[in-house]
Amino acid sequence: MEIIIAPTYEEMSQISAQFIAREIKRKHDLVLGLATGDTPIGTYKELARLHNEEGLDFSKITTFNLDEYIGLPPLNKNSYNYFMQDNLFKYINVNQANVYVPQGNTEDPEEFCEWYEAQIKRVGGIDLQILGIGGDGHIGFNEPGSSFASRTRVKALERQTIEDNARFFDREEDVPRFAITMGVGTIIESKKILLIANGAKKARIVAEFIEGPVTCQITATALQLHTHATVILDETAASKLKRKVYYNWVRNNKHIIQKMVGR
Ligand code: F6R
Repeated sequence: MEIIIAPTYEEMSQISAQFIAREIKRKHDLVLGLATGDTPIGTYKELARLHNEEGLDFSKITTFNLDEYIGLPPLNKNSYNYFMQDNLFKYINVNQANVYVPQGNTEDPEEFCEWYEAQIKRVGGIDLQILGIGGDGHIGFNEPGSSFASRTRVKALERQTIEDNARFFDREEDVPRFAITMGVGTIIESKKILLIANGAKKARIVAEFIEGPVTCQITATALQLHTHATVILDETAASKLKRKVYYNWVRNNKHIIQKMVGR
């Protein structure tokens, strides 16, 4: 994994938006996996700015979101469908026909999950998947204990996730107990992965997932097995990493390595 430590949340967001923009410029019909939550809001703002001010073109991309709460229709303000429209899609020129977000109010979740997997396969897989990380180390809603081979499915949420996400709802009882989520297996088949994390409350889990042993109890550790995973952190989220000096050295000397391998 390549680890990039930015001084602030704003810079973390700028670097990750630039990373995504580079991939879109390289492949105009990029298949982009998207996450919701607080973490990517700054990145999405910056992508909207790149579209408005620098003409970044999203018209040919296809997007797949990681997850959605079971029981929430797309127009519910707490649904991830709504979040995506409100924080990104309405600001860019993405073709809505190429936007996929799991449907929380589907009548047959199991059949829906199979269909979702088939759509990802139909477009040739995800080129770049954006991820955040939960306090319990989850990616998507792959709670501790999720198999690294898991596919898109219905998952029961952990107590900690319900408590963490209660801030978006009027009452904790309103937080749905189940979600549809891409599996860990679905996520790690993406050609590239970009995980972003910020804030002191993520520092412990960030250190565990980057420098601890690979385990299904912290599903983000699956990224250690991926060949093209990048992690962008702000200073506070990086504060408990033991090998910070090394990560910074590698980043600052990347040009030397690239020269050596002729790239
Ligand atoms: C959201 C998702 C989750 C979040 C994670 C962190 O689509 O898949 O894994 O990325 O819970 O959430 P925030 O960013 O709110 O801390």
